[in-house]
Amino acid sequence: MAASGAALHGFDDNSAMPSPTTAAPIGCVLGPAAATETDLIVIPWFEGEPADAIGDLDRASGGDIARAVSTREFVGKAFDVYFTGLPGNEWSARRLALVGAGPRASFGLGLARRMATAAGLAVRTRRLARAALLCRGAADTLSDGEWSELVQATVEGLTLAEFHGGSYKTGDAPPPIPEWTLIAPGAPVTVADALRRGRVLGESSNRARELANEPGNVLTPRLFASRIADLAGEGGVSAEILEQPQIEALGMGMLLGVAQGSAEPARLVVLRYEPPATADSVAAVPVLGLVGKGVTFDTGGISIKPAEAMDRMKDDMAGGAAVAGAMRAIGLLGAPIPVLGIIPIAENMPSGTAIRPGDVLKSAEGKTVEVVNTDAEGRLILGDALWYARRLGATHLVDVATLTGAIVVALGRITSGLLGTPDAWVEHVRAAGERAGDAMWPLPLFEEYRDQLKSEIADMSNTGGRPAGSITAAMFLKEFTGGLPWAHIDIAGTAWAEEAKPYQPKGATGVAVRTLATIALEADRWTDRTSRRV
Ligand code: BES
Ligand code: MN
Ligand code: ZN
Repeated sequence: MAASGAALHGFDDNSAMPSPTTAAPIGCVLGPAAATETDLIVIPWFEGEPADAIGDLDRASGGDIARAVSTREFVGKAFDVYFTGLPGNEWSARRLALVGAGPRASFGLGLARRMATAAGLAVRTRRLARAALLCRGAADTLSDGEWSELVQATVEGLTLAEFHGGSYKTGDAPPPIPEWTLIAPGAPVTVADALRRGRVLGESSNRARELANEPGNVLTPRLFASRIADLAGEGGVSAEILEQPQIEALGMGMLLGVAQGSAEPARLVVLRYEPPATADSVAAVPVLGLVGKGVTFDTGGISIKPAEAMDRMKDDMAGGAAVAGAMRAIGLLGAPIPVLGIIPIAENMPSGTAIRPGDVLKSAEGKTVEVVNTDAEGRLILGDALWYARRLGATHLVDVATLTGAIVVALGRITSGLLGTPDAWVEHVRAAGERAGDAMWPLPLFEEYRDQLKSEIADMSNTGGRPAGSITAAMFLKEFTGGLPWAHIDIAGTAWAEEAKPYQPKGATGVAVRTLATIALEADRWTDRTSRRV
């Protein structure tokens, strides 16, 4: 598809940045760590462990572990990495990295994932061809299920360390990725499935991060739509890209209203996943509808944002990218239920054709909306998309959006906001997020907040004023959910890391990709309570 226009001068159509780094698959051996052939071996180290905790490793290090631990140069504090040599002949690797795992009593899957990323990032700077990581859990012996969870989280973490946001600096090549081997002594052979799940989920997160990192002049609505289709296609998921006339025919006045100030036309992407064999039970099959905000750049429109930090608004499509990444994973890993991915895409610009404050738009659902602030555009395009997900047969809804600055005030950059109904569905989504490594916390949706959306002229206003800004934004979305079980994830604070951490470089985080995929892949955990309509 032609992505024409002055905006793209000098860049080719489909991927302006150096193509994403693709690494060799991660292997897994069940045998002993000392015999594993590799250039460098990574060993998780729990705080306060004696120097001889891992067989004869200290002897192979020439006593350096005992020295580092006793001088407190390295104590196993979470994410610290200590490099040393292994001159002895007891181990086949010549180099060792100890990675801090924190206190063993508080070790869990979230820590295992982050520790693997920290190790992956640290090892990557060493430019080695091969590296291996020993999997260690909270206990010395693990059940088959625990092995599988640990291996999956570790592979996710190592894969997240392969991400390179791409760079438009000419001649800037990312450090190479070593070929990784996991060592899981005592694990059942069935960990192969966990290895694949972790790899696919980590890669899908990285693909979403690549999209969110792209600048607005490259990732226009048209290019974003085609990149989403490519990504979902990797998982065998079908993509339909609706253009202006089809969006008009559906009556999506809110999506069209947001897009009308831009030289770039709106798009609506519909992704459809079908399980290999739908169960013979006919009517009862639930359909998950995933909806992601796809504003390729948010200037605020006529209610224009201040210049400071406006550049960050290139990631205002991170929710849409998360849905696309999740659909790829769902397709590759095979969820048991049908899943729809709906991504409304627009660029929010001020111009002579832009919507004005005070304009009234008509939603596809039929409700009229007074646009009091053109910067509250995400809820407008999501409202039409939520309605469309229902029309296509979704029975359960989850939307993801960089929706409100207010959520950053409420929860900071650690935790995504979570709102919706019924409580059991919201809690189900929260718990899936916890397993997937995406922290979320609920805010209330009491009916009384609806008053803040009253308009003199239309069915509702698109803003509810400063108080409870994230809640009133969600109250607006709720108007378009038709009483279906629905959860809204506000990722305005979590989609982008402002500062680097040992387990998280600056830039796009890929938040919510693994959560959305997990909800679909574990659909057998849904119950009557999570499916109650209001
Ligand atoms: N995309 C922004 C929200 C945002 C803010 C994302 C900060 C990431 C970081 C959204 O479209 C927006 O502008 N929201 C307004 C709503 C207000 C006008 C009611 C906001 O939060 O200020
Ligand atoms: Mn905005
Ligand atoms: Zn926005």
